[in-house]
This record gives sequence, C-alpha cells and structure tokens, in this order.
Amino acid sequence: MTQINPTVQYREDYQAPHYWIDTLDLDIQLHDSATQVVAISRVRRHGEHDEPLVLDGEQLTLLEVAVNGVAFNQYQQTEHSLILSQLPQECVLTIKTELNPSANTALEGLYKSGSAFCTQCEAQGFRRITYYLDRPDVLARFSTRITADATSCPYLLSNGNKVDAGVLDDGRHWVQWQDPFPKPAYLFALVAGDFDVLRDRFTTLSGRDVALEIFVDKGNLHRAHFAMQSLKAAMAWDEQRCQLEYDLDIYMIVAVDFFNMGAMENKGLNVFNSKFVLADDKTATDADYLDVERVIGHEYFHNWTGNRVTCRDWFQLSLKEGLTVFRDQEFSSDLGSRSVNRIQNVRMLRSLQFAEDAGPMAHPIRPDAVIEMNNFYTLTVYEKGAEVIRMLHTLVGESAFQRGLSLYLQRFDGQAATCEDFLATMSEASGRDLTRFSRWYSQSGTPVLKVRDHYDANHQRYSLTVSQVTPPTHDQSQKLALHIPLSVALYTEQGEPLTLTLQGHSVNPVLDVIEAEQEFIFDNVPSQPVPALLQSFSAPVKLDYPYSDQQLSLLTMHSIDEFVRWDAIQTLINNAVLANVAQRQGGALSSVPQSLLEVFTSTLQDSSLDPALAAEMLTLPTINSLLELFEQVDISVVGEAHAQLQQELATRLAPLWRQAYQQNQTPNYQVEHTDIAKRALKNVALGYLALAGEETHAQRQYQQADNMTDTLGAMKAAVHAKLACAGAMLADFEQKWQHDGLVLDNWFRLQATMEDGAAVARIDQLMAHPTFSLTNPNRVRAVIGAFANGNPLAFHAIDGSGYDKLVSVLVLLNTSNPQIAARLITPLIQFARLDDQRQSLIKARLQQLMDLPDLSGDLYEKIAKALA
Ligand code: TRP
Ligand code: ZN
Repeated sequence: MTQINPTVQYREDYQAPHYWIDTLDLDIQLHDSATQVVAISRVRRHGEHDEPLVLDGEQLTLLEVAVNGVAFNQYQQTEHSLILSQLPQECVLTIKTELNPSANTALEGLYKSGSAFCTQCEAQGFRRITYYLDRPDVLARFSTRITADATSCPYLLSNGNKVDAGVLDDGRHWVQWQDPFPKPAYLFALVAGDFDVLRDRFTTLSGRDVALEIFVDKGNLHRAHFAMQSLKAAMAWDEQRCQLEYDLDIYMIVAVDFFNMGAMENKGLNVFNSKFVLADDKTATDADYLDVERVIGHEYFHNWTGNRVTCRDWFQLSLKEGLTVFRDQEFSSDLGSRSVNRIQNVRMLRSLQFAEDAGPMAHPIRPDAVIEMNNFYTLTVYEKGAEVIRMLHTLVGESAFQRGLSLYLQRFDGQAATCEDFLATMSEASGRDLTRFSRWYSQSGTPVLKVRDHYDANHQRYSLTVSQVTPPTHDQSQKLALHIPLSVALYTEQGEPLTLTLQGHSVNPVLDVIEAEQEFIFDNVPSQPVPALLQSFSAPVKLDYPYSDQQLSLLTMHSIDEFVRWDAIQTLINNAVLANVAQRQGGALSSVPQSLLEVFTSTLQDSSLDPALAAEMLTLPTINSLLELFEQVDISVVGEAHAQLQQELATRLAPLWRQAYQQNQTPNYQVEHTDIAKRALKNVALGYLALAGEETHAQRQYQQADNMTDTLGAMKAAVHAKLACAGAMLADFEQKWQHDGLVLDNWFRLQATMEDGAAVARIDQLMAHPTFSLTNPNRVRAVIGAFANGNPLAFHAIDGSGYDKLVSVLVLLNTSNPQIAARLITPLIQFARLDDQRQSLIKARLQQLMDLPDLSGDLYEKIAKALA
C-alpha cells in the first residue's frame, strides 16, 4: 500500500524474463487469518547469464526456501520481491509462505467474500498468494491442492480438472486440481466455501461433453438459471460465428458479493460479481438481464481471446480486452437488437471515453507508460479498443476477419502475443495494408472529422471534402493522420436513398479516409443530396458537418441506418442545448425548437419503429455528455438548459406520452426482446408523464408491477419528478428489499442521484444506513459512484460540498481498497470543461489528497497527472 516512490514502467523497456517456470504445484492450507502456501516450481534459466531470479511478492510472510529439496539461503528479501542468486540451470524451487486472507480488504490476491475464500489475480494479485514471476508471458502448468475445513468449505475449487480428493481426520478435507493448459498466473483461481450449485451440460460441435456448474450463495439457486442459459448461448454462438469450441471437461462460475470489477475469466473457473450472475423476474431489471448475458458472454469468450492466446505484457491489455468486448458486443447484437446495442455503446463511448481522452489520464488503447496497472482497465482500453477492432472488421469484412482471427489463434495458441502480432495476422489473412491503421494503437485522443460538401448541379456531381485533426492530449502533443473508415449514404430531399457511383462504377459506401485531407466525388447525383455521415458510427470520432435542422429531421425519419436516425436527434438536441445556453448567458430564454418537437412527435407516432429504438431516440443525453459540447462552461447553466428542455418536451407532448405509455404495456412479464423494447418505451414515457405532473400512472405502476423493471421505472419517475408519492415508494421499497443487497443497491443509487439542495446530507444518511459498508464495492459504487457520476449538479455544487464528500471517502478507501478509490476519483480529475472557480476548488482538494502520508500508487498516478 505504501508507495512512497511510485515507479513508472515503459512499454518500450520490455525484456523477456530471465527464467521460465514450466510447472507450479501449489499446496494451500486455508485458514482465515493464517493460510499457508507451499509453491513448488520447475525453474529454467532463459539463455546464458548470471542474473538472479527476482520473484514478485506482496504482503507475504516467508517461512522456507529450498532448491532441489535442500534448504536454500542465497536469497534476499525486499518489500516487493524475493531475489534468489546462484541457482542451477534448472531446478525445483520450493517456497513456503503465509498470508492473512481475513485482513485483505483490497480484494486482490486471496481474500474472503462473506464466509467464502476467493481469489482475484488479474493484473498482479498472484504475488499476494506466493512469490512468483507474476507477469503474463510466463506460462506454467498449474496443479493445486486445497485443504480446508469440511463444514464451512464443502466446495474446494480451482482451475482445470478435479483429479483427486480426500478427507482428513481433523475435520478438514482436500481436493487436487490439475489444469492441462499452460497459463500465466493472473488466470489462477481458487474458491472455497459453501454454495448451492446449478448444474447443466453442453455438448460441443465436435462432441465433447462439458459439465457446467454455477455456484451461488445458499438460497439463490433460482436466480442462476438465466446465467446458465446465457452461458450455453455464448458457447453455441462462439461455435457458430467463430468456429471456436470449449476445451476442458468442466466450466465453473462462482458468484461472489465482494468484487472490485465485473467478472474474471480464470481458466475453467470464472469468478463473478454476483450482480452479473443473479437474476430473476422479481429482483432483476431488463437491463440487469442483458448485463448478465453480456458479461457471461464476455468472460466465456476470453477462453480463446485472452486465455489460449494471452498478452505478452500488460501494455498489450487491449489485445484481449478490446477483442473480447468486440466479441461480446457482436454476441449481444446477434441475440438482440443490433441498432440498440450500437446506440447504447456509442452513448457510453461519447459520454465517458471521450472524456477520458480529454482528461489527464488520456492514453492510447495500447498505453506506453504505467505506474499502477489497475488504473489501465479503462474505457479507452476496453471500449475504444473494441471500436478499433470493429473498424478493422468494417475494413476487411466478416469473412476475412474470421479468417484472420482463426489464423491468429492457431499461430499463437499457448503463447503470449502482442497487438502487432494480431495486426500482422489480420493483414496476412485479408491482404490489406494495415500500416496506417496501426496508428490507432499508439495514438491517443478523439479525432475530429470535418466534412464539407459541394453540389455541382451542371455536372450532377457531389463532392465531400474530408479532413481529420486529432487535438493534442495530456500524454501526446503531436498527432498523425489515421486510417478512418467513413460510412456514408446519400438521400434525396424526399428521403430516397441514392446509389453511390463514380464514372459508372458503384462506390463502396465505406470511404477510406487516410490523409489529413481528401476529396470524394460521386456522380449521377440528380439534386442536392442530404448526406448520412458516419453510419453505424463507423469510427470513434467527433463529426463536424454543418447539418441544418431540416436535414437532421429528414435523416431522423428516412435514414435506413438506424444509428443515423438516433444520432440526428442527438444533434438536434445538442443544437437546442447550445442555443439555450447561449441565450441564457445573454439573459433571455429560448424554448424547444419546433424541429425538435416535430421529430419527437413523428417518432412517437411512427408505429413501424422498434419501441426500443424509439426509447433511445426519445432519451436526452446526460448533463455530463452535454459538457463535451463546450470548451469551458458553468455546469449549472447546462443543467438548467437540460431541465428546461426535458420539462417542455414533457408538458407539450403530454397526450403523446400518455398514448405511448398505454400502447406499450406488457401484461405478463417475460424476458423477451419485443417485451423488453415495449417496457423501455413505456418507462421513458412514464418519466415524461411524471415530469408533466401526472402522478397516477407512476403510482399505479408501482403498486401493480410484477417485475423489477416496472417497479424501478415507476419509482425513478416519481423520485426524479419530485412527485408527492416518491417518499412513500422509497420507504416501501426499503422495507421490502432490505434483505437483498443487489436490489437495495438500486434504492441507494436512486437516492444518491436526487438533485436538490439536500444531496450531500442525503449521502451522509445513506452512508449511515445499517447496511452501508465501505468494504462492499457494489454498495460504495451505488452511493459514492452514483453521486459523483450520476448527480453532476450536486457533485459540482459551487460551495465545494460535493467534492469534500468524495474526498472524505477517498481518504478512507485509499488504504482499505486503493483500486476502488482510484476508480471513484475519475469525475474529480476530469475538470477541464468546468469553469475556473470549480477548477480551483477541485485542485485544492486534489492537493490535499496528494499530501496524504500513505497515498497509494493507484491514486498518486491519477492525481499527479491531474495536477501536472
Ligand atoms: N479481465 C477482467 C475482464 O475483463 C477484468 C477484471 C476483473 C479485472 N477483475 C479485475 C481487472 C481486477 C483488474 C483487476 O472481464
Ligand atoms: Zn475482459
């Protein structure tokens, strides 16, 4: 924890390890506060040299060291390592250590989640279990023997296959596991405890019979069925779409309540935050169900992209994460609505990843310098990383992409690879030159794509002049031109699509933008067209094209690409907010532009539209994402503009909201895409109706709901519109769900996002609630994370009270769980768009944190960059 001297690691300094470890046999005697680990490894010197073997270790008590069975004393211990000198060329190394799982609140390494033992080793947690070469390019065959009390821990789990088990006469028992696949230490897992187990089977394409087991807390078995269904769907999808099969005889998933992230892809033994496993109609919302499906898919897909082929070093993290997020996005899109998935991903990218690019932590998807690896599990590495893979897919097409993926997996199977390796195989399989494209891996920032057009009526020619500029970022001042796929369509003024041609040949709708400036010409264009630019969001860029309201309205109604329809509305809304803020600063107020009322009306009246798409089209962007429209702005003014727009849309279109609300009822709850879509639109309508002051719908829905989507939809609508019934709903909900942590998180989250003068006092109350605990990351995120990210007006209160609240929690988490602390600080370091007064309030608080005597490396890295 005490990282007085944080050291920076550079990607360019990569060196292969001085030693290899071929096998590791672990013998783990589990005890709450004194667990003993015997680690026996076969070590082999790599090349000719006299370098010592430097093993990583954190917070371990060393008990014994032996080489080839003989006690060994040629070693030195430092705070973070064990240095062994004068080892033979090859040897068997035995290391015995002790550690304290009960005291582990950081949730890295071996810790206790409730009464169960579990591990989290990515990125560098294995070094808290034993001294080891804790780096992803050292791949060993693991065997694990676990011994524990038989009553409290009837299940003893680890990676691979169970090969032996036995009972001891002191009330303890043991199980021996063997993982046949060599793996890096970050994929090791151990779980011991008492669970209910949901069992099923899956037969792979080639006929392998796989046992599927999901372990949940006792009494929760009925909440594991959807996860099991999702797992089988993921296994089938990977076979059909990517020809990839599962490779062990057993696949286990364990749900735990205390977990720093979403889930972890440990070989054959995934460990999940229970939030992404447990779901039933009474407790999970539609969005929760879809999250379970997505995360189960994500971790399963890692079995090939991450586990069979892993990363050479942590700078290559996007090699597995960007690719696996792309794969889970495709899985969700093939099972549900492709357009709605695309829109939701773009919403997240624009509001959060673009902000990361514009902030002090800006980095390329393959970072160059890292202090704390945990800080680089970012939206840039994951989400922008997936966008880069998606662009590649767009450029080479599905079949070449799949050929490239197979080639990559074959060639690097059982190895640790780099992003260059991946690109080289893709280039080989597709025949495309990806040299310029590879800059996406080394350049940070969000490119701005400026498009201007010209119509030449005489020659019936239409030209697009496209130029690209990536503004400088915190980490890089010089930017180069990128290879950007720009997907376009042209429409007549009546909304008819035009075929793109040049000199009689049809033109690919995906334009290859590779230069700083380029011109694209189309002929046979009968009249001035309306361009649909960046269809399906073909690249993670900001588009600059001077659309008129009329053009945007046309695209909203006629674009074949549904993303463009949604995006056109977003642009209309952005323009309305910009105009409103400008006039507000000038003293006067503008109301909702007619064009926006019209597209909302036509969207609400279009019965051919997928209700899920309509729900997205009718949802305003968040205040945080509207900040991106400004260089610097007073956030409270943006908040007022946002509120006014929402309020006017609510009241002026009330009859239409009422109609949409009534037409999208789903009598019997079913987790089925057409019903999910209707509930989405119904609850958007309900939110507007509540703002229009209509209390009865929300009240009735709350009382009659047979599912969590509708219960929460009603409660959110009432709370955010400050309806009189809101208080009673909150009280009722608390009383009903106080026994259920995951459900109650919704109650905490909703109150943390109530924006009124009492917000900070409310956070204090929530933190004083008997079920609040700083040791539970889900609860901390539901209160502190929701407040800092989802309640921007209260968080950015001009008296600094919101900042003080966050800082006081960070001070506590800095020592108990630095990884969570460093995640929560994000909204405090992304201050570039705020006014000077707020910026100086924030900087003073950051300085205060910087002066903490025991500041973790995690927080140090972010604060130092923010203050630089
Ligand atoms: N590899 C995990 C995933 O993408 C991420 C993860 C889970 C993680 N737990 C972690 C990363 C802890 C860092 C620390 O699904
Ligand atoms: Zn992942």
